[in-house]
Amino acid sequence: MKIAPSILSADFSDLKSAIAMCQSAGADYLHIDVMDGHFVPNLTIGPVVLKSIRPQTDLFLDVHLMVTNPEELVKPFVKAGANNITFHIEATDSPLKIIEQIKSFNKQVGISIKPGTPLKALDPYLEKIDLILIMSVEPGFGGQQYIPESTARIQKLDKSLKILGIRKSVLIEVDGGIKSSNAKLVKDAGADILVAGSAIFNTEDPHSAIEKFKNI
Ligand code: DX5
Ligand code: ZN
Repeated sequence: MKIAPSILSADFSDLKSAIAMCQSAGADYLHIDVMDGHFVPNLTIGPVVLKSIRPQTDLFLDVHLMVTNPEELVKPFVKAGANNITFHIEATDSPLKIIEQIKSFNKQVGISIKPGTPLKALDPYLEKIDLILIMSVEPGFGGQQYIPESTARIQKLDKSLKILGIRKSVLIEVDGGIKSSNAKLVKDAGADILVAGSAIFNTEDPHSAIEKFKNI
């Protein structure tokens, strides 16, 4: 299973050290939470910051766009060094256009879904994307509690992908409230990638927190 530390919970005045720590601890992706103060009530990282992060690491930069009009930010984040772009299904009426736009830059495509959105909203796109990001909290802030109903949603999505015969080509990433206490449950439900912010950075020893997740 892959682990994607969310730097949203890191010390933003010392991102360089946080990123080096993630890499040395064996993180697979670096999860970048982009919030626009509109799709979600918080403002975080823009392309300018990602551009400064890019030369600091070889890690896969996993960009999670929690923004309205995601199509406007695809190119700036690709130019800044993103390896994949994940947008929210709730944020657009033209998912196909955005999928094509991201693919035109040869980047991986993810679609994210909020806890209250029916999974069937993803059906038309499952065969066209690389990753589905299931939100297990309402997007907007780190440090929230995992919503228990998320487990059944992961299982259901895992089953749908298997039925379609695309389980190996589409990764399931789960984001929000992931802790060492629920990571195994979420993995067993079908998650391929776990995002964790506060459970890594708000601990005494973030390095060993990442190692522990890797060993689940
Ligand atoms: C929430 C973000 C998450 C957040 C996770 O909207 O998408 O990536 O950083 O933080 P924790 O792991 O603390 O729930
Ligand atoms: Zn996220």
